[in-house]
Amino acid sequence: MSTFAGKTALISGGAEGIGFAIAKAMGQQGMNVVLGDIDAGQLAKAEETLTQEGIEVLTVLMDVTDPAQWQQFGAAALERFGKVHMLVNNAGVGGTPGPIEKTDVKDWAWVLDVNLMGVVHGAHAIVPLIKEHGEGGWMINVASMAGMTGIPYAGAYTATKMAVVGMSESWRLELAPANIEVSVLCPAFVRTRINLSTRNKQSSYKSDNAGSESKETSAQNSAMAKHMSDVVNAGLAPDLVGQRVVEAVKAKELYIFTHPNYRSVPQNRFKAMDEAFARAEGSELLADVLHQEMDRFI
Ligand SMILES: NC(=O)c1ccc[n+]([C@@H]2O[C@H](COP(=O)([O-])OP(=O)(O)OC[C@H]3O[C@@H](n4cnc5c(N)ncnc54)[C@H](O)[C@@H]3O)[C@@H](O)[C@H]2O)c1
Repeated sequence: MSTFAGKTALISGGAEGIGFAIAKAMGQQGMNVVLGDIDAGQLAKAEETLTQEGIEVLTVLMDVTDPAQWQQFGAAALERFGKVHMLVNNAGVGGTPGPIEKTDVKDWAWVLDVNLMGVVHGAHAIVPLIKEHGEGGWMINVASMAGMTGIPYAGAYTATKMAVVGMSESWRLELAPANIEVSVLCPAFVRTRINLSTRNKQSSYKSDNAGSESKETSAQNSAMAKHMSDVVNAGLAPDLVGQRVVEAVKAKELYIFTHPNYRSVPQNRFKAMDEAFARAEGSELLADVLHQEMDRFI
């Protein structure tokens, strides 16, 4: 019997795309799935599709940026299924790619609140529910290849995805004694509607200056949007990503990669850091530090 069977997973942004694919793959393993999403129409479709597959599913309309709605999400899951074993922090938005000086602060706030604070609120609300029953469980955070390397014109998105990788590394160590396995999913392009994220942008994050950019900025933005749309549409099938998550979580992997052809991306980053360390080793200024014992982080 699957290690997941009869257990319950909460998946944010589970109405479509990667979140839905993870829900389906975990449901096929015999898990009950609780989908939280800001999009009522897509949630209804997701519920119907999974129910037809024989998967036990509950949907909750919620916005990950609101801690109170996370509490309600957890409470609804407990009420229906009794316990929670897995949290999938998946909801995310792409933001609007563009040069630093042209990126609206409200857009930064939107991307940070959904992609970063959404994960923080999720951990706050749901980890205690997993700890409570003492049986252990899983937390899967959805980052990106953008969590492995800086991407030009995508500062906000990259900031959030690097943060999600960092939080996952921290929480992996912190939650091991509670038998909660933490993994972080880092895909490159996957065929979803991520490039159309503004469809669900809350009104409070909408710019007051929308539509007032110069012709040049507007042309640059549409060229970037066209490129994003092309690469996302040529990306991996979400179902394959869902199945890969099951495979990697069973193997207790911290980093879940779906694009082995991108291996050079983290390799180049680590190589650059290693070379920078070698230069620090060679610096006369630091000669005394070189042979000192490292202090422990905790
Ligand atoms: N598609 C890719 O190429 C790709 C690559 C790397 C990482 N990712 C990450 O995968 C995750 C899922 O994205 P996707 O590609 O499936 O995109 P998607 O747009 O298809 O799905 C995102 C889901 O999140 C929901 N959502 C958005 N804002 C929300 C909010 N405030 N509260 C609750 N739900 C909200 C949307 O309604 C949607 O159902 C994101 O974290 C994204 O950054 C995607």
